[in-house]
Amino acid sequence: RTVGVVLAGGVGARLGLNVPKQMVKIAGKTILEHTVTAFNESPEIDEVIVMITPGWSEHVATLLGNRFDKLTKILEGGSTRNETTRKVLDSITDDECKVVLHDAVRPLLDERIIRECVETLDAFGAVDVVIPSADTIVEVDGNDVITSIPNRALLRRGQTPQAFKLSILKEAYAKAMDDPYFAATDDCGVVLKYLPEVPIKTVLGAEHNLKVTHPVDLFIADKLFQLASRTAPKHTTEEERAALLAGKTIVVLGG
Ligand code: CTP
Repeated sequence: RTVGVVLAGGVGARLGLNVPKQMVKIAGKTILEHTVTAFNESPEIDEVIVMITPGWSEHVATLLGNRFDKLTKILEGGSTRNETTRKVLDSITDDECKVVLHDAVRPLLDERIIRECVETLDAFGAVDVVIPSADTIVEVDGNDVITSIPNRALLRRGQTPQAFKLSILKEAYAKAMDDPYFAATDDCGVVLKYLPEVPIKTVLGAEHNLKVTHPVDLFIADKLFQLASRTAPKHTTEEERAALLAGKTIVVLGG
């Protein structure tokens, strides 16, 4: 059994609107509805749980209504993303299941990425979705002076989903909660730190799987939805995969 978790517990401070950014409409629907739709329509996903910003659960229950047959729960998140993950873990009791956690604010998630995450969990306990970086990534110190320029060929940009065997993520969080020095990271970061013996396999993400963070991202996402409705191929072809690996943006949507 595979549970898709939509992490929508944030407030979107950097976007600076008076509603959480997942409640903003693009291409005719709220960002949250686009993301829930991606999970609900995926043959890989059996159940969908939405973790929403505290105070928004009634509004979201009305918004989503009963249009999503796999949606079982709408729960309020915590004050940090890690706290939101911890809360959803507490609400899932079937330790044999797989969980696929996705940022609500990446509404252009496509079926190919979900499928590869879930399939990869047959051989690995934890999976991250990443893309190569077109930009050189430099490391700086506290004074903005470069301290190193890591080899770009080995660097990736982390996206979501992040997928886990539930028992592994629960064990990592249990250890993290016992650590008085626990500092926020993404969920793969929690596994990397507290269960370092568990390899975290990466799956190729997509440029279009962008995270709506700054105002300009709303325009880009809206445009990508327009393009996607015209192109929507069913699978990532080898040609598209090669283009993605070479850092080219290609829109691949659809189930
Ligand atoms: N998130 C969450 N619970 C939190 C904080 C964040 O579920 N307490 C979710 C967000 O809703 C978002 C995803 O984690 O879907 C990625 O986080 P981010 O882009 O940082 O969202 P916000 O925290 O809302 O944005 P900001 O940092 O600008 O406030």
